[in-house]
Amino acid sequence: MSGVRVEVLVDGDWASGSLVDDVRRGLGSSPLRLPPKWLYDDEGSRLFDEITRLPEYYPTEAERSILAARAADVVATSGATTVVELGSGTSDKTRTLLDAFAGAGRLRRFVPVDVSEQTLRDAAEQLSERYPGVAVEAVVGDFTLHLSHLPANEPGERRMVVFLGGTIGNLYVEERAAFLGALADSLDPGDTLLLGTDLVKPVDRLVAAYHDPGGVTDRFVRNSLAVLNRELGADFDLGAFTYVPLWDAHLERMDLRLRAESPQHVVVPGADLELHLAAGEEIQVEISSKFRPHGIRTELAAAGFEVVELLTDEPGDFALTLARLA
Ligand code: SAH
Ligand code: AVI
Repeated sequence: MSGVRVEVLVDGDWASGSLVDDVRRGLGSSPLRLPPKWLYDDEGSRLFDEITRLPEYYPTEAERSILAARAADVVATSGATTVVELGSGTSDKTRTLLDAFAGAGRLRRFVPVDVSEQTLRDAAEQLSERYPGVAVEAVVGDFTLHLSHLPANEPGERRMVVFLGGTIGNLYVEERAAFLGALADSLDPGDTLLLGTDLVKPVDRLVAAYHDPGGVTDRFVRNSLAVLNRELGADFDLGAFTYVPLWDAHLERMDLRLRAESPQHVVVPGADLELHLAAGEEIQVEISSKFRPHGIRTELAAAGFEVVELLTDEPGDFALTLARLA
């Protein structure tokens, strides 16, 4: 029998949920934008997994190398027995951390949280088999909305929230502040956060990571339009758009856009929306902010987290920060 419990907090029918509001807000005003969480239907999750294996996409292996080198220290310092993982996806790298928890005999409960339901269910089943004595309590939820639903500490216990991959960089700066504030509100003093962030580096490597020659990232970003066609009956012509990955040097973030190459008239019946895109007009599908250590410390401190250690991989490409709620 499966030891997995799954709590579903998002409407599985995206067309009757917040997708409609997000599309009205994002495509109903200028500049045109889509929130990145809608990139992760089953196909989007599959494509992201493919991205993580691209040679140009260094963040996954950089973060894995930090976990491999330092997981045992992180486990000991955290004192946690429950691990909550936000935006867990396949939880592939997380196994390195969970192995260290299990090796220390410390892991009682694992709570993966993701909007991508099937990917989450599959990962939860695999993790439950790998860690038979651990309660796996998956939550199909939105980490910008559902943090107050996370399981509470048992008396004397501590939780560690892990948020890997640099996914926090997909939030705008004001969304990051709101997210970290809500996270702090949902934790107890002494609970910890293990946060993965991609670091600022030369522009050629950054752009290469989002512009692979095989076009996997292009398909991942373009899939957002397929989601709108399927879920909201939109008639985007996917072939009429060009994928444009830009480095914004001022805001230190990748800015991933789709550009209409000719005028486009698009109807989105499920959102009661009609779009007239001029030739050259762009839809901003995702940002991916890159960080500097000082900025990571400042954003965490503003939400009440004290940095315990900020770890980087050997070349200094990626940071994993362990912070404790004061
Ligand atoms: N943590 C994994 C996956 C990162 S991909 C890694 O490090 O490789 C980003 C993940 O976050 C996807 O699985 C996506 O479905 C999930 N996600 C994106 N926005 C989300 C949101 N608002 N709430 C919950 N999950 C979200
Ligand atoms: C999930 N997130 C951290 C990825 C990133 O690098 O910002 C998403 C991604 N988009 C294109 N490639 C990868």
